[in-house]
Amino acid sequence: MNSLQNRANAVMAFSISAIFCLLGAIAFSALIIPSNPTGTVALDSIKVVTGRYDKYWVDYKTRDNEFANTIMRIDADLTSLFHWNTKQLFVYAVAEYSTPTHPKNQIVLWDTIIKRKSKAMIRKKGVTNKYSLIDVNKKWTNVQANVSIHWNIVPYVGFMTYGHSKASEGYAFPLPSGIQN
Ligand SMILES: *[C@@H]1O[C@H](CO)[C@@H](O)[C@H](O)[C@H]1NC(C)=O
Repeated sequence: MNSLQNRANAVMAFSISAIFCLLGAIAFSALIIPSNPTGTVALDSIKVVTGRYDKYWVDYKTRDNEFANTIMRIDADLTSLFHWNTKQLFVYAVAEYSTPTHPKNQIVLWDTIIKRKSKAMIRKKGVTNKYSLIDVNKKWTNVQANVSIHWNIVPYVGFMTYGHSKASEGYAFPLPSGIQN
């Protein structure tokens, strides 16, 4: 009786240790799988409009908020990020810029969730910004933004990992007057 219980206990303890070791091995080994993700975002058009509200923004105090509207081209090949421990990818395009009052600003322009490798090749044109593109100062004055694709890899087991593409540089918000694109 006693020895049966002891034996069951030992078997359980061993199994649990073995499972944890296995999960640990999966979690760590997934971090060293080589991959070569690539991505670019190009802003084909940037227009600044003034108003009280935008898709994700309402300002009851003033109608002088400057919202930027942009049309993007997004190309990315994230297929190499899919392996046996990839549950899904969270993918987003980010504009990064600095202003005299706020040295580091990041705005998400677009995002998506990719659940399968066959969907990890992204080719999109004419994508409008999904979220309001407004600066904390609510004005766009001589901002130079860099845009890039970022991704979070959500694993089945282990750590979420992050990466981003090389940035496309120097998009002006707003465009200097007289220049059209
Ligand atoms: C944009 O990229 C350029 C060149 O890599 C860099 O010098 C600049 O600091 C970047 N701007 C921002 C806001 O990250």
